Amino acid sequence: MAIDQKARYAYILEYYDSQAEMIRRYQLLYFLADDTIEMHDIKNRRIFLKRCQYDGIKLSDFFVGSIVNIYSRNLTVVEYADEFTRSANVKNHQRTLAMIKPDAFKNAGSIISAINNAGFRIANMKVFSLSRTEAEEFYSVHRNREFFDGLVDFMQQKPIMALELVKSNAILDWRAFMGPTNSNTARQNAPKSIRARYGTDGRMNAVHGSDSAENAIKEINFFFGTGHKFTSTAQFSDSASSCCLIKPHAFKENITGEILQEILNNKNFAIGALQLFSLSKENAADMLEVYKGVISEYVAMVDELSSGPLIAIEIIAKGTDKQHGVNQFRDFVGPFDPQIAKILRPNTLRAKFGINKIRNAIHCTDLPEDGNLEVEYFFHLLQ
Ligand code: RTP
Ligand code: MG
Repeated sequence: MAIDQKARYAYILEYYDSQAEMIRRYQLLYFLADDTIEMHDIKNRRIFLKRCQYDGIKLSDFFVGSIVNIYSRNLTVVEYADEFTRSANVKNHQRTLAMIKPDAFKNAGSIISAINNAGFRIANMKVFSLSRTEAEEFYSVHRNREFFDGLVDFMQQKPIMALELVKSNAILDWRAFMGPTNSNTARQNAPKSIRARYGTDGRMNAVHGSDSAENAIKEINFFFGTGHKFTSTAQFSDSASSCCLIKPHAFKENITGEILQEILNNKNFAIGALQLFSLSKENAADMLEVYKGVISEYVAMVDELSSGPLIAIEIIAKGTDKQHGVNQFRDFVGPFDPQIAKILRPNTLRAKFGINKIRNAIHCTDLPEDGNLEVEYFFHLLQ
């Protein structure tokens, strides 16, 4: 069946113009027949982008809350502009809250790869260390159950990771993908499920998922809303902290999980803090300021870093070589140019995951004295 040439979805997008210090609003049309887009400036009623195919932009990038990068601007999709778009998208873009529990944190990378492979998109992601009160509040529906105290003890032991997932039928699909509550039952009845693969028993069962649309909203708000301020998990250590960014191209290619798992498997490092960010061009330029005028790829590096969501991680060097945390992690990341890395240091992250000097998968702190500054930039300043 031929697709109607005029059939299109319509979205309202916003962009903070930091020069003019104002929010600009656009209507974006996405034509389904040929994957072209067209944009209008709403205030001036002027066409901003004539109908065209825009490199790197696809239909699945658009849902309320998503960020798309057009002409180096990070535009947030804030609403659906008509009923046709809304009804089609509400079905396609259901959200749920997933959590990686303390027993499975060491496998967080592999679990993220599985999440991506199952067709979920990650709209938000952050590591937390829950206090007793926070764990009690999150699981307050179970307050009167006999397993409540044990559950709360378990949940506040170690870091957890909260993820906001987007997919059609996300809530039920994620629950099916997790498997039965008891990991042993899961191994018998649903051997491919996450709990079967990474869970321990009836309590330590690797992952959580919202059980209804109402609770999904509540739980997403609990972690990612502005209502509650969690204590930062970052350690901000002058000697041991180093900053690692999984770059936007790697996030887009769905290799975040693989990279993260390599870091988790390395006994020399621990993860202090981790969070998804979308940097504006100004923020990316700030962040990479030390390279301005020094590295010829500076402008392209800024463009890459602001081209979509990235994952910022505070790396803590463990063990005897604590004083050289930044250098140690840099060694593990490998040479700046992946082509050189593949020849000289094939086991490094950039050799395994990088493409070229700009899309080299990872940014890591270069100089020991900058480690904590870069960590502070993300986990203090941008908070
Ligand atoms: P979740 O809420 O974590 O996604 O898991 P669920 O819906 O499958 O299970 P639920 O009944 O809501 O229980 C919440 C969590 O409490 C722990 N639990 N321990 N008998 C026990 O020791 C027991 N039963 C449940 C599990 O961590 C469960 O996921
Ligand atoms: Mg539950």
